Amino acid sequence: MKDTVNVGLIGTKFMGRAHSNAWLNVAKFFDGSVPEMHTVAGRNAADLAEFAARWGWANQSTDWRAMVSDPDIDLVDIATPNHVHAEQAIAALEAGKHVVCEKPLAGTLADAMAMTEAANKADGRTFVWYNYRRVPAVALAHQLVQSGTLGRIYHVRAAYLQSWGGPDTPLVWRFQADVAGSGAHGDLQAHIIDAVRFVTGEEITTVEGAIEHTFIEERPLLEEGGGSEIAGAGAGGSKMGKSSVDDAVLFLGRLSGGGLASFEATRLATGYHNANRFEIHGERGAIRFDFERMNELGFYDATNGATAGWATIDVTRGGDGHPFADAWWPDSHGLGYEHSFVNEAADILAALGGGEPVVPLPDFADALRTQRVLDAAIVSARERTPITIDYDTPGGQS
Ligand SMILES: NC(=O)c1ccc[n+]([C@@H]2O[C@H](COP(=O)([O-])OP(=O)(O)OC[C@H]3O[C@@H](n4cnc5c(N)ncnc54)[C@H](O)[C@@H]3O)[C@@H](O)[C@H]2O)c1
Repeated sequence: MKDTVNVGLIGTKFMGRAHSNAWLNVAKFFDGSVPEMHTVAGRNAADLAEFAARWGWANQSTDWRAMVSDPDIDLVDIATPNHVHAEQAIAALEAGKHVVCEKPLAGTLADAMAMTEAANKADGRTFVWYNYRRVPAVALAHQLVQSGTLGRIYHVRAAYLQSWGGPDTPLVWRFQADVAGSGAHGDLQAHIIDAVRFVTGEEITTVEGAIEHTFIEERPLLEEGGGSEIAGAGAGGSKMGKSSVDDAVLFLGRLSGGGLASFEATRLATGYHNANRFEIHGERGAIRFDFERMNELGFYDATNGATAGWATIDVTRGGDGHPFADAWWPDSHGLGYEHSFVNEAADILAALGGGEPVVPLPDFADALRTQRVLDAAIVSARERTPITIDYDTPGGQS
């Protein structure tokens, strides 16, 4: 791989901004290949011009297909709603590009399987923006559990709690099943399923007791030209439209190492705004994480006998080997949401340059495993039955 990686981005709103910020800043903080912000593709020419000028994209295109087949582009970055991930990723892979796609890998299991099949046939590498893996506290949790610090895992409790989805929130694409695939489930649960798989190194083998629920059946329709970002959703018009996704999904699962896990994702957890949380209890200790206090990791060392107690680790200390910390600021100068994307951009560039990421990067095959759990939970909820996932068979469930 050459030292410069020409990036082509599709999508210019929430994730388009987060990814642009990552490509803009990564080489200022990390050594390695340098991304060139070659082309941004989107649907609205006027918006694109403003976006490209603001973020430093050299070119812009209203034709993403032309962009992904441009011989100058090395890496296609997909920051669009879930229903177009498959056609965009497959077109880019067929054009010989590396692809980094937003999560969930797709809105449906069928799309995610087609994407993984295309990735298996392609020369390009694939990556998925499960960015929370690169929050330093989550990366440290992964390192601690993988080095055996907790011993055998008994219990995992994961929850992703937000509260922006009340009745006044308009019918943005996130509430449309044909675009999003699912609601809080694909949006939020996908992150905590990935986090549990990443930190424990175990797979979720069965899903039981799943509940899928839609509290708010109708939402205000967006006025023509209304924004689609959460933060910019604004007030809808007076007409109402039907929400076709869940507002909350809960389920239980069994882990491949024999432990038990519970998962909860909701957009209606009044009082929580981005509480992406997990707790893991093992035979020798436990860890707990909450993104609303993202620079901290809770750790309980059960081998300390009478002095055992929860410690709060400030995961910002490069000198103590905290992952990613030495690229940033002195100790206890905290990091934010955006750093997880910059950290992932750095690891993608390292991988493309033949190096090792700080912690493992998810590719399409890896993200397909998360998608299979998402799918199994919905089947379990709708059929009111436990589902066993057969990872050796494409799409296999019983
Ligand atoms: N990793 C994270 O933390 C995180 C957070 C939010 C969203 N996401 C994921 O990122 C993706 C995008 O979400 P978002 O919040 O940025 O959405 P958004 O609505 O804010 O932006 C979507 C962008 O895609 C463009 N777009 C829509 N359809 C298109 C099409 N057919 N062709 C080309 N461009 C199209 C829109 O114009 C817009 O620029 C989703 O898959 C979502 O699940 C991930």
